[in-house]
Amino acid sequence: MGTLPRNKTGVQQYDEAKLGFGDIFTEHMLTIKYSATDGGWETPQIVKTENLSLHPGAMILHYGQQVFEGLKAFAGPEDEDILLFRPDMNIARFNKSCERMCIPTMDPKIFMARMAELLRKDRDWIPRAAGTSLYIRPTVIAIDSHLGVRPSKTYLFYIIMSPVGAYYPEGFEPVKIMVTDKYVRAVIGGVGEAKTAANYAASLYAAEAAHREGFTQVLWLNAVDKSSIEEVGTMNIFFRINDEIITPKLGGTILPGVTRDSVLRLCRDKGMKVSEKVISINDVVSAAQSDKLQEIFGSGTAAVVSPVSHFRYKEQDYMVADGKTGAVARDLFDEITGIQVSKKPDPYGWVCNVGLHP
Ligand code: COI
Repeated sequence: MGTLPRNKTGVQQYDEAKLGFGDIFTEHMLTIKYSATDGGWETPQIVKTENLSLHPGAMILHYGQQVFEGLKAFAGPEDEDILLFRPDMNIARFNKSCERMCIPTMDPKIFMARMAELLRKDRDWIPRAAGTSLYIRPTVIAIDSHLGVRPSKTYLFYIIMSPVGAYYPEGFEPVKIMVTDKYVRAVIGGVGEAKTAANYAASLYAAEAAHREGFTQVLWLNAVDKSSIEEVGTMNIFFRINDEIITPKLGGTILPGVTRDSVLRLCRDKGMKVSEKVISINDVVSAAQSDKLQEIFGSGTAAVVSPVSHFRYKEQDYMVADGKTGAVARDLFDEITGIQVSKKPDPYGWVCNVGLHP
C-alpha cells in the first residue's frame, strides 16, 4: 500500500474507517545502531522510512536473533495529545526479551524519549476514527555479517509506525479459535515468554491449518502433555467459568501481556473473582458441556479485548456465549479503549501523554 497519495504534510490518504492492520507506514522511522567494540549504542536518528541495507550474511537473516514490541499511540481530546498506554511495561518487556536473546538492552529513558520524539514528528499520522490508533513497532536485529552461531556484536534498533484499525478481519466481532494438540508453540526453558520472531514463525504452520478450517487463530496447549491452556500467540486468553475470570498463569512459556495485566487489574478492582492458574483443556470442555462456560476472550495490544465465539478441540466444535460478545469482554473493551483515549478516568495512571515538547 506504499503508493497511496499523500497530503501536503506527507501523510498518505486513506479511509480511516477502513483501516486494517499493518499495511501503511508513517513517513519517518527511528534508528539507533549498536557496536559492542565501538562505544555501544550510537546517536539516535530520525530518518525517512526506507528499506534497510543489510549484508546477506547478517545474523538476523540466519539465526533470527531479534526482539520486537508492539504498543499504540492514540489521539486525545486536545489537538496536541499523543497518548500512550503503559509504555513503561513495553519497554521493560523489550529489555527482558533482549536479555533472553543475548541482545544489549536499551536505556528506558532514551527509548521513551526517542520514541516520543518520533511520535511528535509523525503526529499527523495518528488516526482519529473510533477503534483506530497508531501502532508502534520497536524492533532490534542482529546485523553482524557472520555465519558462525554466536551472539552478534552489532545491532540495529529501529521503530516504525503504522496507522491501524482492528487486528482481526472480523473487526471487533467474535473470533473462532482452534485448539491444537498436534503442534506446540513453546517449551519451559525456551523463548516463549520473550517477544521474539521465532515464536511467531513457529506458529505459522498450525495457524495456516486453522485458517483452512475457518478459524482465525490457534489456541496453544502446554508442550509436555498438551493438557493445559497457554495462549493464542497473538493474544493471551481468558475464560469466564461460573463467574470466575481465569487465565493461565505465567510460567516462562506465555507472553506476559500488557493488556493481560490490565484486564486482571480491572477485573479485580471491579470485585470479580480472578485466578491465574493452570487451566486444563478438559475442564474448559466440561464447563462448555455443562453450560458453565460463560465467555472466552483474548487480550493483546493489537487485539485489545477480543471475544471468542467458538472453539474446536479434538474435532468437536463448541459455541461460547451463544456466539456473541460476552458482557465482561464488552465491558473490558469499552473500559480499556475508553482509558486509552482519555474518555474514561485513568485511576491507575496508565496513560502517558507525550504530545507536548518536554
Ligand atoms: C501485539 O499485540 O502488539 C503483538 O505484537 C501481536 C502481533 C501478532 C501483532
